[in-house]
Amino acid sequence: MIDAAVTAIRERTPLVPRATVILGSGLGGFAGAVEDGVEIPYGEIPGWPVSTALGHSGTLVIGTFAGVPLAVMKGRAHLYEGHSAEKAVFGVRVLGRLGSEVLVVTNACGGVREDLRPGDLVLVSDHLNLQGTSPLIGPNDDTLGPRFPDMSNAYDPALRALTHEAAARVGQTLSEGVYAAWLGPAFETPAEIRMIRVLGADLVGMSTVPEVLAARHMGLRCLTISCVTNMAAGILPEPLDAEHVLRMGAQAQGRLTALLAEVLPAL
Ligand code: HPA
Repeated sequence: MIDAAVTAIRERTPLVPRATVILGSGLGGFAGAVEDGVEIPYGEIPGWPVSTALGHSGTLVIGTFAGVPLAVMKGRAHLYEGHSAEKAVFGVRVLGRLGSEVLVVTNACGGVREDLRPGDLVLVSDHLNLQGTSPLIGPNDDTLGPRFPDMSNAYDPALRALTHEAAARVGQTLSEGVYAAWLGPAFETPAEIRMIRVLGADLVGMSTVPEVLAARHMGLRCLTISCVTNMAAGILPEPLDAEHVLRMGAQAQGRLTALLAEVLPAL
């Protein structure tokens, strides 16, 4: 299945992306910056799951940015849509097999650490997998990677250092944090957020971890930039609202695009 998808993409473009960028909820704007991009709707790639999530468009864009060959996934499949973890990471595996060496993941998330503010961009330094599943369960495909992949430096320290430098050049400061992946689709309860804080997470969201697991399994280096769209449940008196998440994502999109534009040529 992975090979059929790789073939379908190769029929549309000879470009071998050096990096893959996944754009999260309300964060699709960067895809417009890709030059001479070939746009392939997910539905036209065999085996590729079609995203039904709010704010996700479902197209793969392959082109160049500042001379760097890139694949940009506008929209992703989440476990809460009913996709298996294996299905949710299909795109990452296809682009890894196509030759991508780096995976840049963006996401919208809730701020668990109380000094965070909606609109902040945060570099993920590590994760907690609280989704109760993994894309790596089942028989291991040895052509993808080892049975027991190491996750010690899943969020590549050198890529993070380079991203801090890029942020400084565009006048941004980034903090770092641990991302907890929640299954969803319900937002967490305030008690769950207290638990997640005690466990050591700074951020909470419903994506990213399956993709990073699949990418590390294949040896891709990973960088994750989270956009804090809201404070997590129970921190502020107001209820959580998915439309608000998208609006805050859209507000941060300009800064995220500026940061990606500075980081990608340095990868
Ligand atoms: N929780 C989980 N996922 C999210 C949140 C949140 O508060 N905000 C954006 N995605």
